[in-house]
Amino acid sequence: MKMEEFEVNPWDVKGVVDYEKLVKDFGISRLDEKVLKRIEKITGELHPMLRRGVFFAHRDFEWLLNEYEKGNKFFLYTGCGPSGPLHLGHIGTWLFTKWLQDKFDAALYFQFTDDEKFLFKNKSYEEIQKYLEDNMADVAALGFDPRKTHFLIDTRHASLLYPIAIKFAKKITFSIVKASFGMTNEDNIGKIFYTAMQAAPAVVPSVLAKKNIPCLIPLGVDQDPHFRVARDVYPKLGYYKPAILHSVFWPALKGPEGKMSSSDESSAIFLHDTPKDVERKIKKYAFSGGRDTIDEHRKLGGNPDVDVSFQFLKFMFIEDDAELARIESEYRSGRMLTSELKAIAIKKINAFLKKHQKKRAKITQKVLERNWLWAS
Ligand code: TYM
Repeated sequence: MKMEEFEVNPWDVKGVVDYEKLVKDFGISRLDEKVLKRIEKITGELHPMLRRGVFFAHRDFEWLLNEYEKGNKFFLYTGCGPSGPLHLGHIGTWLFTKWLQDKFDAALYFQFTDDEKFLFKNKSYEEIQKYLEDNMADVAALGFDPRKTHFLIDTRHASLLYPIAIKFAKKITFSIVKASFGMTNEDNIGKIFYTAMQAAPAVVPSVLAKKNIPCLIPLGVDQDPHFRVARDVYPKLGYYKPAILHSVFWPALKGPEGKMSSSDESSAIFLHDTPKDVERKIKKYAFSGGRDTIDEHRKLGGNPDVDVSFQFLKFMFIEDDAELARIESEYRSGRMLTSELKAIAIKKINAFLKKHQKKRAKITQKVLERNWLWAS
């Protein structure tokens, strides 16, 4: 792969992503000043991930706000493919989704695609079910409002999802799936069908209420291709096209290529990591924007734009813009060393994980069944 080449699809991200090019290739729109102002007018403040461009693009979001302002409220939909332990990259989108739930007082449908991960990964059905339970407990601990949040599990809630999915499947051909995802005749037939399952939750509340309800999907931009395929079908079935908000990728610890991913242990900080794990991973792996020697660093300064520890602070762990700006300028000027920047990141991440792990310990199977799983 040449330096300027990259690849983004729901199952793989390779190379250094050029988001400008991605916006053009995917046909999505930048979240510009005008849209951000409109959000701020309604919510009273902008989430740091909006202010800092972590959520950077959208589809039909202005339409969604028009509907909202007319009194036509939307629901939120997002999801998780349970194939391993969850990492920081996953929960960035979900913490932002929680903010949207609070600000817009919206219901959330959260899909767990155990079918997808069984079909696409070299893992047994039992292994995937283990990760499903593990991932659901982490998601439930993030602070969504349980009265307004519904977990949908593809295999368990098949009687709700499958009748909807087949209607999408009937309008999506194998050649569209081949062209969109690069599938071949050798791929198993479950993979070919899967996009129809991911399309379905965006209309579940409309099906249940027997009237059209607008939907907003916050996601990492790798998931967009499913909806690009499905969006042509929604109106054909009589539904609104869902609006989408796209997040950039949390980088892999080792640097700018690809993304943080659970399939590469050394690329990710997991929600179950201990303080020692976090310290070791940040010290050993986190790509640094610092110079080779302390003398050079003091003289020439560091580069926070490529520094992974700084990116983590910017994406989630420092909410206060003034504090972030101070760290940025200290590092850029060379007054702050990489070891000092890493120490801040370790402290902030560990404080977050400590709280998260405490909340997660209270989420038992019984709590999931009682408070979180969708029940007809
Ligand atoms: P999954 O489990 O791979 O990822 C869940 C969500 O996390 C995002 N994500 C990331 N975002 C930023 N940086 C990263 N390094 C990173 N890694 C993962 C993903 O983009 C995704 O939003 N098929 C889906 C599950 C799904 C879904 C949905 C996702 C079902 N319905 C609707 C979004 C919206 C999957 O396997 O996601």
